[in-house]
Amino acid sequence: MANPASPPPPVPPAPQSAALKNLCVIIRSEITPRISAGDACAKELGVPVHELETLPERFEAALVVADLRLELRMLRGEEALIGGHGVASELATLDTKSGAGRSLGQPILKAIGIKRRNPYRPSVLDVTAGLGEDTWVMASVGCVVSACERNPVTYALLADGLRRANEADPKTAGRIDITQGDGVSVLLERSKLDRADRPDVVYLDPMFPLGRKTAERKAMRVLRMISGDDPDADRLLKAALETATNRVVVKRPLRSPPLPGPVPPVVHKGKSLRFDVYPVGAKQ
Ligand SMILES: C[S@@+](CC[C@H](N)C(=O)[O-])C[C@H]1O[C@@H](n2cnc3c(N)ncnc32)[C@H](O)[C@@H]1O
Repeated sequence: MANPASPPPPVPPAPQSAALKNLCVIIRSEITPRISAGDACAKELGVPVHELETLPERFEAALVVADLRLELRMLRGEEALIGGHGVASELATLDTKSGAGRSLGQPILKAIGIKRRNPYRPSVLDVTAGLGEDTWVMASVGCVVSACERNPVTYALLADGLRRANEADPKTAGRIDITQGDGVSVLLERSKLDRADRPDVVYLDPMFPLGRKTAERKAMRVLRMISGDDPDADRLLKAALETATNRVVVKRPLRSPPLPGPVPPVVHKGKSLRFDVYPVGAKQ
């Protein structure tokens, strides 16, 4: 048990990425609110605004502000990541409507404690929000989800995705709130709240370890470039176990070891993923 007299361990800074140092904003819109959004985004991130046509060679990536959406485009580096559509958060087009998408038997939903023919919907704190896909899936079935993302570029994409998703499906979007910051700090803050104000479930999806056979989608490869490999995920698990009132759920590749820490007593398996469940039980 932590000694209440000793100060909490310092929170190490999030791993910074090379891409962040060589990032700019490109505004490809004539619409005044979008131009303002692009300027605000550049200011927030502390990066310059440039024209695509006159872009200096040193930039490796650009956040492109178009009429409709914000996307991250890789400009240099690995061939497979350059060109085509940029990476954006596309929440409203996720499959939550087809039989399979709507199924309450999806492993992620089972893992957070949802059962068919049972109206219980846990409150969830998703501390590794990324582009918000898992957040959206949980909110689409009725969970209220607080989502946290530490990487400022990913957070900008997430905020833009949620803005657009709110136009398409305000009911689901209305169950989500997002914050930018380190998940461990957010967890430590929430762990001090009364039990009733703490989340039922803490959900973790740190970057998967890169194995020889890891085949990642373009979006995930770009996320890995901008936010690193999340080598500090075990700190998240420890803090999550102090905060959730019902359970902690960790998404892992099917054959990877669990995060360092206690052995998860329950596992829900999908085709290539699994969800390790750490019940927390009755506390205080
Ligand atoms: C694999 S992605 C998550 C994908 C997400 N579940 C989705 O459905 O889009 C992992 C994300 O967690 C973020 N992350 C890792 N450690 C974090 C921490 N301590 N606090 C906040 N965010 C963190 C990374 O920046 C990265 O964007």
